[in-house]
Order: sequence, then structure tokens, then C-alpha cells
Amino acid sequence: MREMKEGSAGLHVSSLGDEIVGRINELAAISEAPAHLARVFLTKEHRAAADLILAWMRSAGMRAHLDAIGNVCGRYEGERPGLPCLMLGSHYDTVYDAGKWDGPLGLLTAISCVADLNRRGRRLPFAIEVTGFADEEGVRFASTLLGSRAVAGTFVESVLGTRDAAGVSMRDALVQFGLDPDHIGAAARARSELLAYVELHIEQGPVLEAKNLPVGVVTAIAGATRLAASLTGMAGHAGTVPMALRRDALAGAAECIGAIEAFCRTDEGGLVGTVGYIHAMPGATNVIPGQVSFTLDIRAPTDAHRKLAVTDIVRQIERIAKRRKLGLQVDVTHENRTVPCAPWLRRQVAEAIAGEGYPVFELPSGAGHDGMAMIDIADVAMVFVRCRGGISHHPDEHVEVADADAGARVLLRLIENFRTRDAAE
Ligand code: GLV
Ligand code: MN
Ligand code: MN
Repeated sequence: MREMKEGSAGLHVSSLGDEIVGRINELAAISEAPAHLARVFLTKEHRAAADLILAWMRSAGMRAHLDAIGNVCGRYEGERPGLPCLMLGSHYDTVYDAGKWDGPLGLLTAISCVADLNRRGRRLPFAIEVTGFADEEGVRFASTLLGSRAVAGTFVESVLGTRDAAGVSMRDALVQFGLDPDHIGAAARARSELLAYVELHIEQGPVLEAKNLPVGVVTAIAGATRLAASLTGMAGHAGTVPMALRRDALAGAAECIGAIEAFCRTDEGGLVGTVGYIHAMPGATNVIPGQVSFTLDIRAPTDAHRKLAVTDIVRQIERIAKRRKLGLQVDVTHENRTVPCAPWLRRQVAEAIAGEGYPVFELPSGAGHDGMAMIDIADVAMVFVRCRGGISHHPDEHVEVADADAGARVLLRLIENFRTRDAAE
């Protein structure tokens, strides 16, 4: 039974969407800076958000705890304790100056669905687990999907040595947060514990809006490669070194960025490339930059296309560095293959959408998601919810309450009608 409340339109039964959007706003208040939403891995905002989400999980009838990497984990038992689970979830870290829906929408929708089952005393022939992943975006350390990789048992210990912009290593940040970097393996789950992993997420693109649909079925999550490039020239006096004698690392980086953009723009197969971060040293108006580092994110609809593009782009960067007599180092910081959503789960998402009275529409995800790591221990499916103007990774990111509610009803219907792979095939 949902709570009655006084709304602007008079007395009405509050929807799952109302509860989810109220919590989205509450969670968005937990931010490094009041004017710009930023909640990154292993910070005090991470801790405060985890505490709030754990409380919501418990009030939804789940047992809940923080795991060895800082994920929030809730479990709602099935008809008897200890059954394998349908795992739902999404992430609760953000990019800098983020929108408030990317990640939290899926996590809070899953909690509200469990709360609804709990209010009705409904137990299912499987358990439901809800996981809030602590780091999907990879903003603080140059490595993404840390939370879901730990759950999938694929967390690579070597990333513990990576440092954030302030020079703090991930190892030290874990210790400061109260976690043990040598016991991250304790977060890993076995394939036999999971029946499937299903994630609801804001679309982050304009397709559902253009189709006038609140929800869609995801076919696959596009792979991505992230590189860190560093160019080394020679710092010098901005007034005395003639242009022809300079080895300006920032001018070299600018040429590289222009070449990357031109390469991706002329590709007709959906290739996208982004230089999202650049840092010039020593960083003074009257000093020729001697060293520059920048990042590169490359995605394409197929893995073969992306890999070919990465090779071509790196060759171009090498040519530019050579011509300008700059030292060059390029490291791959992240590489994920394209992850198909399992047909047997996609069918169940489609049935739930149709059951709620919406046309079934399938679309791929250009954005990365925790399912890219979870695929190593479970079949994966995703439900997309319409995103206003296709805007995401931006404070104007927005989902209408009615669409959040539609997404929740679809997820709830999917849960209540869920059939295991053996039963479904
Ligand atoms: C995550 O949001 C990504 O696709 O980079
Ligand atoms: Mn994101
Ligand atoms: Mn996301």
C-alpha cells in the first residue's frame, strides 16, 4: 500500500516515481561543492551517500552492508533464505559537475521496487540483491568500473598504486576510508550466486525522446578504450626562445587534439573520440609548456572498428610528436569490449515494457555501465529511461517523474515475472 499525500493536484496516492525522485534530490545534496554535483570514490561524500543508501535499503526490508571496496549491498531474501539472487543495481559516484540521475536512478528505483514487494509481504522464488557501485565513472583514479570489477572478481591489484590529482594513491585512499586494500577480494561474488544482473539507467542520449517513449530495451553496451598520453618538450622563456627553436608540449597536444577530432569527424561508422582532460606544466603565462598530459576516450559500435581507430589515432599522435621533437608516452588506462545484453533477459524486459502498455523499442548504449564488468559473472540486461534533450554528464540532465515511475513499474513487473535462464529458454 503506498502512502497518501497532499500534492498540488489534491490528495493522491504517491507513486514509486515520487519516492525515487525525492531520494534522487536528497542524494544529490551530498556533493563536494554545493553548486556543482561531484561525488567521487573514497571521499567523505562517498561515505555520507553510502550511509543514506544503506538506511533506505534497510527501510525497504533488506539486510544491507558496505562491502570491501565501498559498494552498498542490500539483500531481500526469497521464499526461503540463501537462494541465488536476481541482482539489480547501478552506481552512486558521479562525474564532476554531474547530473543527478546517472547511476542513482537505477539504484534508487531498485530499492523502491524492493520496498514495494516488502510492503506487500511478497517473497519470490529467488532473492533480490541491490548493489550500489562505488566507482563506475573512474573520475578520481584513471580506472573505471572499480566497484563492479571487485564484485565480478576482476579487480586488478596493480591499480592500487594509481594516484589521484592530489597525489594520493588508491591504496592510501582506501585505508583513509577505513577499508583494507589487501582484502578487496572479499567483495567478489560467485557466478552460482547470481541468476542475472539487471540495471535500469537514464538513456543519456536523445533516442527515446525522439521516439516519444519513456523506456527502452538495451541491446548491447558499446566497448571503450581510454588512453593517457604525455608529451615532453622543453620548458623555456616565453620572451626569448624564437618560435622555430621551441619544443612546446602544449602546442603539440593541441595539434594532436585537432587531429583526433578530424579523424573521428570523418569516420562514417559512429566512431566518437573525446579528449576530456588536459594538464600543462609548469602552467605559467610566460613559460613555454614543457610537459602536457591528456586523456583520450574512444568508442565505436563494434570492437573491431574501435581497435582499428585506436591504432590509427596513436600512429597520428606519434607522427606529430616526432615532427615536433617531443617525447611521447601513451598508456591504455581502460579497455572494455562491447557487452551484448542476453537475449533471454532482453525478452523479459520487452515483456515487462509491453505489460505496462508501452511499445517495445530496442536501442544500444553508447555509454559505459557496470554491466560491462558484471558480464564476467552473470548474464546482463538493461532498461533505459528517457532523458530530457539527451543531455547527460551535465547538470541539466533530467528525467520526468512520470518516466521514473514508468521505469519503476517496468522493473517491478520484470522482477515479479522473472524466470531463470533454464525456465526461460
Ligand atoms: C560512463 O558514464 C561512461 O560511459 O563513460
Ligand atoms: Mn556516467
Ligand atoms: Mn552511469
